[in-house]
Amino acid sequence: MAKFTLLVTILSFGSCYIYYDTGILQDFDYIAYSSFNCKNGYSKIATTTFSNQFEQIPQIFFTNEYFDQEIAELGFKLAITSITKTSFTLEISCNLNRVYTLKLKWFAIDDQRIQVLSNFNMENPDDKTFQIKNPNAQTGFVVITSIRYTGKIDFLLSISKITTNSVTVSITKEAGKFTNLKQIGYFVVVGVEEAFINLGLKTTTGGFSSGALAIQPNRWFAIALQGLNYPNVNNLRIKSIYSNTATTISYTWQTWDQTETPNSHSQIWIAYQFTKIFKPLECFTIRTSRKQVKNLTIPPTFYLEFVQSNQIYTSNGNYVYYVDKSNAPFKLGIQIKCENGKKIKAEFNKCNSCSSQKTHSFSYNCFTQMNYVGFFPVFQQAFPQYNHLKINMQSSSLEIINVVYDQAVTEKTIVNIQILNQ
Ligand SMILES: *[C@@H]1O[C@H](CO)[C@@H](O)[C@H](O)[C@H]1NC(C)=O
Repeated sequence: MAKFTLLVTILSFGSCYIYYDTGILQDFDYIAYSSFNCKNGYSKIATTTFSNQFEQIPQIFFTNEYFDQEIAELGFKLAITSITKTSFTLEISCNLNRVYTLKLKWFAIDDQRIQVLSNFNMENPDDKTFQIKNPNAQTGFVVITSIRYTGKIDFLLSISKITTNSVTVSITKEAGKFTNLKQIGYFVVVGVEEAFINLGLKTTTGGFSSGALAIQPNRWFAIALQGLNYPNVNNLRIKSIYSNTATTISYTWQTWDQTETPNSHSQIWIAYQFTKIFKPLECFTIRTSRKQVKNLTIPPTFYLEFVQSNQIYTSNGNYVYYVDKSNAPFKLGIQIKCENGKKIKAEFNKCNSCSSQKTHSFSYNCFTQMNYVGFFPVFQQAFPQYNHLKINMQSSSLEIINVVYDQAVTEKTIVNIQILNQ
C-alpha cells in the first residue's frame, strides 16, 4: 500500500520532465565504432539523446575514465557545440597522431545549485578566472576535456581561488615540460556545499585501487582527471575498471600492455537531488520612524544602508550587491524624503509560502512635521547563505530584488518603496 501511494504521488505531479540524466558516450571509441580513426585532421560529431525531455535546457559536463592515445605529437579538440532539452552534441577533431579511445561519462543537470563552466580547447594554457552566477557555489572541481602535447608533460589543474562571483583555475608549470603542453580543455564545475562530496586528490605513479567507497544516495560518482605526468615514451593509457556491490563501489585505475600513465584525479560524489532549498529573504521584524527634518534640500531622496557592511546608496541607478553569509539576520536602514503633498507606500517580503499577508505593508501621507520616513527591516532565512541583490534606485522608487539560485533561478522583490502623489 505504501508503495502504491508513493507511485500515485509521483504520477500526480503530472510532469514527465526530467531534471537530471547520465550515460556513457562511446562514439569516440575505435572498438565501438571502427570508423573512428581520429588523427591527421579527422573530426566527428556525436549527438546524444537524453532518456526523456528536460523542462529547461540542462547543463552538461563529462568525465573521461578511459584514455588510449599515441605519443606526441598528439592533440584533440573536444567541445559541446549545442545543448537542447532533448539532446546535446559534441565535436571532436584530432590534429596528428591517433586517439584510439575516449569513453566519456556525461552528466546532465537542470539545477542552479550547480554551475558548469567550460574552457574547451584552451591554446597556450594558463591560469584563468571565470564568473560565477550563484554566490553560494563556493566549492567545485576541475576535469580535463581535451589536450595537445608535443613531448613529455607534467601538470596539475586545480581551483586556486573561489569567491562569491568568480573562480580561478590554476595550472602548474613544470620547467622543461610545460612548453610541451600546447592546448588543454576542462570543465570547472562549482556548486553549493551540498553539491559535492570530494574524497580528495589521488596522485598515482602506477596502478591505483580505490578500495570500497560507500555509495551515496542521490549522487553520481565521478573520477575527475585533473593532472597528467606523461613521459611520452609509450602510449597514454589509463582506464577505470569498476567492481561494485549493492552498497559500495570500487575501481582500479589501470592500464593494459604498457604501463599506466601517472596522473592526478579526484573522486567526487555529485548531487543530482538536493535537500537544502534556497529561498528569498523574509522580513520577520521591522521598525519604522517618522520625523521632521528642518532643511529637506540636504538629505538625498533615498538613503539605503546595508547596516552590517556599512554599504550606502544615495544616487539613482542599478546596483548589484552580494550580502555576506555572516550577515544573518540581515539588516537594512532606509530613509526617505517625504515632501508635502506626497505619500509613501512600502512593502517588505514577509512570507514566501503564504497565500495572503505576504508582505509588511505601509502607507504614509507626508506633511511638514513628518517629512522624513525611516524603515529598518530585519530579514532572515532558514540557514546562512550569500544573497545576490539587485538594487534599483530611481527618483521616486526603490526596489530591491533577491536573486535566488535553487533548482531554478527566481527573482523576488523583497523591498518595494514608491513615492506617490496624495
Ligand atoms: C538648506 O540647505 C541648502 C544646502 O546646504 C542651503 O543652500 C539652503 O540655504 C538651506 N536652506 C535653509 C532654509 O536653511
